Amino acid sequence: MRRYFLALLLTGLLWNKLANAQSLKTVVDKALAFAEQQSLLMARKYGHQPGVLPRSFEAGKSTVSDSRWWCSGFFPGSLWYVYEHSKNPELLSFAKLYTARVEREKFTTDNHDVGFMLYCSFGNGLRLTGDSAYQAVLLKGAESLSTRYDPKIGLIRSWDHNKNVWQYPVIIDNIMNLELLLWASKQPGNAQLKKMALSHADKTIKHHFRPDFSSYHVVSYNRQTGVPHKKQTHQGYADDSAWSRGQAWGLYGYTYLYRETREKRYLDQAMHIANLLINHPKMPKNFIPYWDYDAPVQADTPRDASAACIMAAALTELSDFVGADTKKKYMEVVEKQIRTLASDEYTAKLGENGNFILMHSTGAFPFKSEVDVPLTYADYYYLEALSRLKKRL
Ligand code: GLY
Repeated sequence: MRRYFLALLLTGLLWNKLANAQSLKTVVDKALAFAEQQSLLMARKYGHQPGVLPRSFEAGKSTVSDSRWWCSGFFPGSLWYVYEHSKNPELLSFAKLYTARVEREKFTTDNHDVGFMLYCSFGNGLRLTGDSAYQAVLLKGAESLSTRYDPKIGLIRSWDHNKNVWQYPVIIDNIMNLELLLWASKQPGNAQLKKMALSHADKTIKHHFRPDFSSYHVVSYNRQTGVPHKKQTHQGYADDSAWSRGQAWGLYGYTYLYRETREKRYLDQAMHIANLLINHPKMPKNFIPYWDYDAPVQADTPRDASAACIMAAALTELSDFVGADTKKKYMEVVEKQIRTLASDEYTAKLGENGNFILMHSTGAFPFKSEVDVPLTYADYYYLEALSRLKKRL
């Protein structure tokens, strides 16, 4: 019996050792090198199709969108991240080409996704090239986004549809769009944009979060009083559940809000969310969440790799702002996530998976839409996490 347990222990130790044989730096470098090859294949595929942007790969078929889809900025943004590390001139020209395909969204005033669309594409382009034309696009986009702020309510309206149900809907995802406003507020004459962003962030803390720091997906406000009249889900399991990507948006949002403002309330909020997710009883051991923390777990319950990628990018940044013990805890989680995502279980083979990098994300489970598929935003935040890690290793 003792020999059996000893053998079991040794096998376990050996397995662990093999799994962690490569340093995290090697894992990150290999993942970025693979991303370069896979992204080039994707970029070449649609390079000659004006206006086309990759979207997903479902049932053996690639899907695409034009710039109106909320995800239009992620593939251009991914190209910028991959170019940043490879310095491959072909990637630079593709990054410029695909970024230009999103430009018209600077005029978008009919939804809140302008931040996602423009800050990931033009924002990274500006960061890496300093091109003043990119700056002008971002400023126009921020102005368009700000038209959706109602001072009586103090928040940016997310959606215009379902008017018979929601008077003034704000979704947790919207916390991500404030980064564009905060950037633009640093330009002369734009101080009001910061006020809008912080009002939105503060009211979201007040109304979107529950006592355990999980968040609702949709909060709709009464247009006259500015008081919430409905708290619901749209893409999650139930109105009172914790939809995985929504939780990740919150974590990421309050992390950059702290980076940009140094207001302790945002650091506290990000740390509370991190604490909830890291210690969540339904969080799998590899820290790739199921699509909703409250969904019943069966053998075929899909994961959402995109939620893990957003969380990894956020925790890597948040770890800069916390004490040594907490940093260690966060980075252990990030390491598990990155090692898992970079393994064959989540990373596709070159030329497969519609040329996306990662498999196994979930877009909108309740609508049976994009379940267990690759998604542009999983790849984008994975590359951002890899990029942030590379700068810190
Ligand atoms: N912002 C939409 C989503 O996260 O699915």
